[in-house]
Amino acid sequence: MRAGLAIASLGIAALACAPATAQSPQARNFAPQQLKTGAEIYARNCSPCHGARMLDPQGAADLRKFPRDERERFINSVTRGKNQMPPWGDLLKPEEVEALWAYVVAGEKS
Ligand code: HEC
Repeated sequence: MRAGLAIASLGIAALACAPATAQSPQARNFAPQQLKTGAEIYARNCSPCHGARMLDPQGAADLRKFPRDERERFINSVTRGKNQMPPWGDLLKPEEVEALWAYVVAGEKS
């Protein structure tokens, strides 16, 4: 059972990665709905510290400068928290953190 599940989810992970690796690292192939969700969650939960539309981070990290190839780090820091930043793993579902990543990478580009 277990092994079967692990293999199945590996297959899904490989599928999910395929479009991203096929394009440039900055590939902006996020669904509009995902970006919209990310923007809404950001406005509600993240903007008090990171600034409205990521524009005025003050003491918190400037998310416009977050490295675009460090998705794992983003997911980990947001889920588990980092120093002064609280963890969000209990409040946000993994797909919501994923939507935030989409927003941070592509959301405030013209
Ligand atoms: C209470 C204020 C606060 C809130 C709310 C907040 N952050 Fe942060 N965040 C910080 C601070 C402060 C840092 C800098 C942490 C450090 O590097 O010491 C930070 C750092 C980060 C980093 C960089 C982590 C790294 O690996 O360098 C990311 C990404 C991030 N925040 C995303 C988010 C997201 C997404 C949200 C909304 C779900 C959010 N933050 C909400 C204060 C906050």
